[in-house]
Amino acid sequence: FDCPNFVDCPNFVSVLSQVDCPNFVDCPNFVSVLSQVDCPNFVSVLSQVNSSHLYVCGSFAFSPHDAFIDAESFSLVGLVDAKAKLRCPFSPLQRNSALTVDGELFTASTTDFRGERAQISRHFSRGGQDVSQDTSIALLQEPAFVGSAAVDRKLFFFFTEVGKEFSFVDELRIARVAQVCKDDVGGQRTLQNKWTSFAKAPLLCQVPKQLPFNVLQHVFTLPPPEGASSSETRFYGVFTSQWSSGAESAVCVFTLQDVQAVFNGSYRTFDTQTHLWSSLLGTHSHLGQCGLDSATDSELSQVKKSFLTSGSVKSAGAPLVSSDHRYSRVAAMRTKALNGKQYTVLFLLTESGFLHKVVLLAGGPRVIEEIQVFTQPQIVKSIILSSSK
Ligand SMILES: *[C@@H]1O[C@H](CO)[C@@H](O)[C@H](O)[C@H]1NC(C)=O
Repeated sequence: FDCPNFVDCPNFVSVLSQVDCPNFVDCPNFVSVLSQVDCPNFVSVLSQVNSSHLYVCGSFAFSPHDAFIDAESFSLVGLVDAKAKLRCPFSPLQRNSALTVDGELFTASTTDFRGERAQISRHFSRGGQDVSQDTSIALLQEPAFVGSAAVDRKLFFFFTEVGKEFSFVDELRIARVAQVCKDDVGGQRTLQNKWTSFAKAPLLCQVPKQLPFNVLQHVFTLPPPEGASSSETRFYGVFTSQWSSGAESAVCVFTLQDVQAVFNGSYRTFDTQTHLWSSLLGTHSHLGQCGLDSATDSELSQVKKSFLTSGSVKSAGAPLVSSDHRYSRVAAMRTKALNGKQYTVLFLLTESGFLHKVVLLAGGPRVIEEIQVFTQPQIVKSIILSSSK
């Protein structure tokens, strides 16, 4: 999968043609452009499909390719097919999210060279029916995906996008959670092979009377305590602010119960003529629901344009705000202290490569340990928790 020099890079010419610069010597940004033209294969999905195989998808010099890997010998067992472009991004600079549930692959990725068209889709579907987003109305606006989770029969995707429901600011960014149902097969005539369960809701991480932390950096899903209902699942999100470039960030927690309540509430509807959003009066029993495969065409045509909730999912409790650290990743675990009490511990990565261990006490959060992950500070892109280590 290596592409060691530009001549071997099949798409390099088309990359260069995007660089709007006739004469390289005169081009002040050429050096930084070149360093962004990342020719090698950047793997952005690596996921266990079943007991014997992994699935992998990489940018392959701006031409996504995917394959299965035999987990035992750790060898590639052949490319999958030509549809990899729906499954992982062309550019290593674009973020995506993917997860497998019961052998089915769910992906959230941009799907074109320029990274303008985003799709949440299902692949290797059990019934043979892969499902993707309806494209007659833009369901997502320049999203940056940061995470995903599967709980019960639903999948949740976390991202930041441009909030088109607000017309008073050009490019107001909004943190969101989107849902689809795992077993969605699309409609019979309307929305064939398209999600009938897609819906999205704003995530609000805000200190009262201040501007919200509106840009999601990462989300970690903390499963419920043993024996508790899945509605006690919690999502920990790291946020920064569109209006601040300083070392400032916040952690907010959202409960699945609150997410479900917003998706079961009222919706906004998109007017395809005026391109404006308005509130739908009352609740509509089919919006945001699973099992719409035999819904009527008129119900599905309403689903098509009413996928944004009126309500926002608000954080459970006050945001944990740091005014001197820009956190980029979070992991969380529940643990029992020597006094027998249960505590939640957060592991927060700073952009400069430090790891903070934070315990959430009744009186507020407390940083109890700071670890420099590498002697030469560098950006850490991923954090995985092993409760034993
Ligand atoms: C796992 O998935 C791969 C790829 O689809 C398939 O070839 C293999 O037979 C599957 N293995 C099992 C145990 O289901």
